[in-house]
This record gives sequence, structure tokens and C-alpha cells, in this order.
Amino acid sequence: MSLTGTGALVDAARDAGRGVGAFNVITVEHAEGIVAGGELAGAPVILQISQNAVRYHGGRAEPLAAACARLAETAGVPVALHLDHVDDLDLLHRAADAGFGSVMYDASRLGYADNVAATRSAADWSHANGLWIEAELGEVGGKDGVHSPTARTKPAEAAEYVSGTGVDALAVAVGSSHAMTVKSARLDIGLIDEIRAAVPVPLVLHGSSGVLDDDLRQAVAAGLTKINVGTQLNVAFTAAVRDALADPGLTDPRRYLRPARDGVAAAVAGILRTVSGG
Ligand code: G3H
Ligand code: ZN
Repeated sequence: MSLTGTGALVDAARDAGRGVGAFNVITVEHAEGIVAGGELAGAPVILQISQNAVRYHGGRAEPLAAACARLAETAGVPVALHLDHVDDLDLLHRAADAGFGSVMYDASRLGYADNVAATRSAADWSHANGLWIEAELGEVGGKDGVHSPTARTKPAEAAEYVSGTGVDALAVAVGSSHAMTVKSARLDIGLIDEIRAAVPVPLVLHGSSGVLDDDLRQAVAAGLTKINVGTQLNVAFTAAVRDALADPGLTDPRRYLRPARDGVAAAVAGILRTVSGG
């Protein structure tokens, strides 16, 4: 099948009281492993390419996005394609043509009023161009190696933000932090309940790699729907490469990329079983 819309997967998960996994793609092997993980768990997946990953590919989003779209055609589960953590308007404006069905516009570093104004404008543009859009309020830290586990989204401000910007989903700060390589973050489940009651759109958890499985389950039950995971896949990928490269005679990249891809698939399947009950 062809790509499914991110909004359709998120809405279906929310209606069913489940989470949907959104996984960061850096290489084609990541994308293949993520789709394989979805097939192992029998659950849909959102492939997401971040602005930083686009930079890694020399500023070209299109080739990797096209590979993801072609993978979706033969996948055994629904697959969506999302552009993650964008603040470059030129890239945002190329998203629909590159094949993305959705974007996360990241103005979370700005003050509240500037965040609302920039995100309103991005949301208007996205909707006019057929894109579902997510934005963030209450900066989830860790992107620069600085953890801010105490950052919190305020429920009343979140409600005002969603109506002021018109976004389709809201990323919230409830205790997670990006780029954690060990699962130790605890989520503020009571706050998730409060935001859920105040905000009409689906909620998104960033930095899910560092969150304990039981907290992920409770967070989904409390109303978090899109569960973003990146670092945990890279931990699995790199551990497999490191292990394979212990053989000094190894030269064929397939001999270390295959176990890396399998490691990603196993990690994705485990996360999906935790968040989607698959
Ligand atoms: O947007 C991507 C996610 O927030 C990934 O965070 O790498 O800490 O799992 P993570
Ligand atoms: Zn994130």
C-alpha cells in the first residue's frame, strides 16, 4: 500500500486508546528495520526524518523520503512519513513535494508569544498544502545534550496554544528528555491527565527512549498517543555494528549493517508491544 497519513494513524490509535510509534530514520537500514519491527509486532509505524538527519544527507530530504515511501508500498503494516523538528522554513516548504504527509514544526525554544505566532503561520501554510502539523509547548530538553527533566507544559497554556495556533497535535513536556541512552525518566502521569482534559488534539511524547516501559504504558493509558523514539534505535544499531566489527577481517558492509537493521527491528517491535498492545 502507499503511505498512510500520519493524522489517520494518530487518530485511529487515539480512538482505540493505544499509542502509535514514531521512529527516527537516519539511513535506509533504519527505515527497513523500523518497517520490519512494525511487521513483527503487527502495528503501524510512523517513519520520521528530522531536520538534523536531512542536514546529514547534505540538505537533501527527497532521496531518503522517497526510499521510505517506496518501502511503504510493500510493507505489511500501514506506514506514515513525517518530517521531524523543523524550524527551517525552506525545508518546511519543501515537505509536501518531498512526500511527507506531516511535519513537526519546532518553535519550542521561543518565548510563548513568539512560539504562537511562528507556529500559527507554519500551521496555516501546512494546512493549505495538505500537511498535518504537530508543534511543541514547554521545551523537551536534551537535543543539545542538556537534559531538562523538570520542564513542564502548563495545561491551561496548552489549551490556549492549541486554539491560538490551529495545530493538529501537541508535543508536551511531562518528564522526558531527548537523547537518553538509559531508561530512567519518570513521567508526570497526573499532568498528562490534566493536559489531556484541557486539550482537544492528540498528545505527543518526545524523548521516549529514556522513559521506563511502565511509565510509557501509563502515559498511553492517560492519553499520550504519538510516541517518538530515536536514540534507543541508534543504541541497538551501533551496538550491533560494534559487535560485528570485532572481527578485524570484516569488510563487506552488509555483514555489519544486517545485524544493525535486525537490532532496530527488534527494538521497534518491543516498543510497539509496549505502547500499542500489538
Ligand atoms: O523527535 C524525536 C524523538 O523525540 C526522539 O527522542 O531520541 O530521545 O528517543 P529520543
Ligand atoms: Zn523530539
